[in-house]
Amino acid sequence: MAGPKVFITRKIAQEALDMIDQATEMEVWPDELPPQHDVLVKKAADVEGLLTLLTDRIDSALMDAAPDLKVISNLAVGHDNIDVAEATKRGIVVGNTPGVLTETTADLAFALLMAAARRLVEADSYTRKGLWKTWGPGILLGQDIHNATLGIVGLGRIGAEVARRARGFNMKVLYHDTRRLSRRKERLLGVEFVLGLPELLSASDFVTLHVPLTPQTRHMISTIEFAIMKPTAVLINTSRGSVVNQKALYEALKSRQIFAAGLDVTEVEPIPPDDPLLTLDNLIILPHIGSASVATRKNMALMAAENLLAGLRGEVPPDCVNPEALWG
Ligand code: DGY
Repeated sequence: MAGPKVFITRKIAQEALDMIDQATEMEVWPDELPPQHDVLVKKAADVEGLLTLLTDRIDSALMDAAPDLKVISNLAVGHDNIDVAEATKRGIVVGNTPGVLTETTADLAFALLMAAARRLVEADSYTRKGLWKTWGPGILLGQDIHNATLGIVGLGRIGAEVARRARGFNMKVLYHDTRRLSRRKERLLGVEFVLGLPELLSASDFVTLHVPLTPQTRHMISTIEFAIMKPTAVLINTSRGSVVNQKALYEALKSRQIFAAGLDVTEVEPIPPDDPLLTLDNLIILPHIGSASVATRKNMALMAAENLLAGLRGEVPPDCVNPEALWG
């Protein structure tokens, strides 16, 4: 159908594609792998809207080559793949998908926490390999989750949902953030503010990261931070890989400076198959599936479609990270 031209960088839920198709002239990248950057630049050249994934780098070079671009709708809450400042300068609005994936991602973070603490992946492979010869008092011992102290770094929407889950396990929940909640909200969530990251790290049995990737959060967990953590501690990262210095993590896990880690994200995605992290048995690693439930991925796609269509109409998308792009 005729209408503004849009490019969608991967196949998304059909309901969302149908919505977009009714109002635009759309092209959908058909492959499972994302378009290369130079291909994406060419595709963007004559479109008014882009629907992107976190694997698509949307930089100033691309925007320079796309004079008609009005809206970039990212199918993710994170938007570190997009140069938002450059988009704003050009009056291009950027949409994202917060809220709808909060609980699904918190579920995954808690699943990783439990799996890493109780060595579930290791235990599964032990069983399948025929290593299970008897019940033994010292076999595959893990860390208790109930009554333990959980340190949440970044108490936004997802961090708060992880805190709620932790209460079911009678955990003491500490949090560190650039902004403190009101005392009332802290009481309701059952969380305790810790001003300094080192204090939170040294007091926690589990540390879970829920910050966006920014210049301030890049490598916020590195050699010094691992040295402060308990030798029984478990680190969980479902935010962005580069929040953790992966080389330092390897050293900390290898030397048993910490007990275990559970990662849903890595500095380079996909992680290269020869990465030394993959040789460790005290690491559980997943291919960035935090929001990957059937219902949530559909809802994210519908939300991204709505953001795209609003931007094409010249409106601020319902979920927009730079509404000021239209103020000038
Ligand atoms: C996001 O939305 O930023 C996640 O990383 C993918 O769902």
